[in-house]
Amino acid sequence: MSDHDVSTWRQRFLYTAPADDRSRMRAVANNLILHLHPTKVPAPALRWTYTWGLGGISATLAVLLIITGVVLMFRYDASVERAYTSIQYLETEVAFGSLVRALHHWSANLLVVTAFLHLVRVFLTGGFKVGRAANWVVGLILLLVVVAFNFTGYLLPWDQLAFWAITVGTSLLSYVPLAGTAVANFLLGGPEVGQAALRNFYAIHVAVLPAILILLMSYHFWKVRKDGGISQPPSAPGERVERLTTIPHLVQIEFAAAAVLIMGLFLWAVFVPAPLEALADPGHPPNPAKAAWYFLGLQELLLHMHPLAALLLPGLVLAAFVAIPYLDRQEDNVGTYFRSAVGRQIALLGALYAVGLIPLLVIIDEYWLDFPALLPGLPTLISNGLIPLLLTLGGLAALYLLFRSTNKANKSEALVGLFVFVVVGLVLLTLIGIFFRGANMALVLPF
Ligand code: HEM
Repeated sequence: MSDHDVSTWRQRFLYTAPADDRSRMRAVANNLILHLHPTKVPAPALRWTYTWGLGGISATLAVLLIITGVVLMFRYDASVERAYTSIQYLETEVAFGSLVRALHHWSANLLVVTAFLHLVRVFLTGGFKVGRAANWVVGLILLLVVVAFNFTGYLLPWDQLAFWAITVGTSLLSYVPLAGTAVANFLLGGPEVGQAALRNFYAIHVAVLPAILILLMSYHFWKVRKDGGISQPPSAPGERVERLTTIPHLVQIEFAAAAVLIMGLFLWAVFVPAPLEALADPGHPPNPAKAAWYFLGLQELLLHMHPLAALLLPGLVLAAFVAIPYLDRQEDNVGTYFRSAVGRQIALLGALYAVGLIPLLVIIDEYWLDFPALLPGLPTLISNGLIPLLLTLGGLAALYLLFRSTNKANKSEALVGLFVFVVVGLVLLTLIGIFFRGANMALVLPF
């Protein structure tokens, strides 16, 4: 073996760590960072207003949730007799118990918001284009996993809110034809929410979902790197994009964002404890019995349509979201918010149409429109299901065509308008469900 071979062998396999402790720690930290990031990143990718740090914030929240979740497991007892008292004990007797629970609760709710906003950012900048379709789909599954985490965690305190939100939520499943009831029975371990359901939800929450989340997140990050980093506007021929080293340029932004987020969450958790209502009472549903807040848009739809149609509509929207990379293949507008100046105008119009139309439709349907009474000869599945569903889908198609013809938008820009309409619509339905639904789910004013 020549001297050269020996030194290469040494470099590869006998890495000699720096002598002093600080340099050694720095070497390990840098190594970890450079497993996640490339060594250099394009300068425009560092702009805070491009990503708003939403992917990183979501990742930080996921880590915080795992840490606080493991701590909570030391005290939580997943039995119908002891779950509620174990939470009460944690809140009042265990040092920092209330703080850890509040951190877990608020991080979980915030993660639904930040992962959703991250999806919106990725869509609006065309981050699903140029070879990133697979990561877009992985992201969608991640969002579903985040919602499943929240949903299964909701039951664990075994208070009135938990019991009835899960009862309402799982009862929706029974409207899914063929497999719905079987899936609901499998999840609940029987026909209703009881000990088997609590045990199943706990197992899914602390074992199944974390494993899926960690695997998917790892793949998601690896894929961002593999796809050449985050999306960028295509550079003009001959243009050279400045590239900066990840350490310190990117890492200092990430650390600052994580520090601000964690400090903010701590402060919030200190002053706003996680809610805990009275012990679950299967005999006395609260009025109104609402689902968890992120399902209130869906619950609102159920007030207007046959349950099958109300489930089919979000199912179709989800399928359309999966298909987005295949529906919008124009690659020269990647990396620009709303695609173009026309796209920006269409997005604004989409938002305005949603704000004007959706509350109006909710009010009209609540007080005046009654399809089953108008069409008494038809089964409600058609009069109150198929007809409103087709009208909604027809309305969305009409909106797309309107953007294409009146506003001279190309396919990509018209899709932005439709996406903004659907997203603002979902947010509005959720807000109506949270603030404007009172006893018997009737429309009320919150003030
Ligand atoms: C737990 C949830 C999630 C985490 C922790 C996460 C994390 C990240 C991170 C750290 C990045 C790098 C850029 C950035 O910060 O924006 C990223 C990029 C990306 N994410 Fe996510 N993500 C999540 C959910 C989603 C969802 C719901 C979608 C969309 C359906 C999605 C699709 C993508 C795509 C396509 C990219 C590449 C974007 C680009 O190149 O501009 N992710 N994600």
